[in-house]
Amino acid sequence: MTVRAGADLSVALGRLHLPLPTIMGSGCYGSGEEYASFIDLENIGAVVLKSVTRMPRLGNPTPRLVQTPSGLLNAIGLQNPGVEWYLEHEVGKFSERPCAIIGSVAGFSVDDYAYVTQRLAARDEIDAIEINISCPNVASDGETFACDPKLTSRVVTLVRDLTDKTLIVKLSPNVTDIAGIAREAEAAGADALAVINTVRGMAIDVDVWQPRLGNRTGGLSGPAIRPIAVLAVYEVACAVKIPIIGQGGIETTTDALEFFLAGASAISIGTANFTDPRVPLQIAHGLERYLLGRKLNALRDIVGKANHGFSGPHQYEGDQG
Ligand SMILES: Cc1cc2nc3c(=O)[nH]c(=O)nc-3n(C[C@H](O)[C@H](O)[C@H](O)COP(=O)(O)O)c2cc1C
Repeated sequence: MTVRAGADLSVALGRLHLPLPTIMGSGCYGSGEEYASFIDLENIGAVVLKSVTRMPRLGNPTPRLVQTPSGLLNAIGLQNPGVEWYLEHEVGKFSERPCAIIGSVAGFSVDDYAYVTQRLAARDEIDAIEINISCPNVASDGETFACDPKLTSRVVTLVRDLTDKTLIVKLSPNVTDIAGIAREAEAAGADALAVINTVRGMAIDVDVWQPRLGNRTGGLSGPAIRPIAVLAVYEVACAVKIPIIGQGGIETTTDALEFFLAGASAISIGTANFTDPRVPLQIAHGLERYLLGRKLNALRDIVGKANHGFSGPHQYEGDQG
């Protein structure tokens, strides 16, 4: 089954043009190779690689994954072989991929972000850079970059100067004002925003009176976080002009449409790939059918349509029960 777009599903993220708006989320798709026997990678827009750091990381103690009724809690702890190993052994293979490859950068200081960005962006096999300033799993002395507008601005300003490739900034939902952080990232030069990373969570084993994750806390993904993610996309879309890659619990075409209507120009699929690797293909077909059924030519025609008449979340008088 191949996607033959009868409707225009393409999206521009800065200089990066994708024929399809379906992007595979960091940490959930390897580098694409792992899924190539299940799905023709021509039928996805891009893969965001697992976040890579300056030094190798062993990650968190196990258990690192816990299933909850409608979401997955993870505390992988950014396990990765470090950027130098990655460049030497992995990146060369990416030129064989028939979809775009987006490198994901993580770090524990502004210098880390700069170093890894420079190293990855220098390689032709990598089409764009996403900076993961929002991982809630990794203990660090300072505040998480994504939770502080000034830190967000500093890191984005620095890495912006290091590459002409599309720069995507991935935001955390674990903040009080995601729109404010989004504005800082846009002003500092981001080409696009990935909204959202995982939501902090915890599960406890009632037999042994211990948290179920080795790291005690983790990041929740999957359908449980979808309404949180849709709201975040809506709020960010009201605040910035750059494109948004919506993500958080997308499993079906209807889920994806919610994100486009809230203001996303592209979507990312993470956890759903673990249970059904055909989800990205089904969604691309579903989007095409939806547009053709409404006699619309292009996906971009529906972006943000649910936001009409609203100028921002400040209009609300509260939404408590
Ligand atoms: C097991 C696992 C590992 C992840 N690793 C990363 C990572 O390394 N870097 C990153 O930016 N996001 C990481 N994420 C977050 C996903 O890319 C995605 O933003 C999030 O899970 C929400 O989307 P989903 O509900 O479709 O999974 C990870 C998620 C999971 C479930």
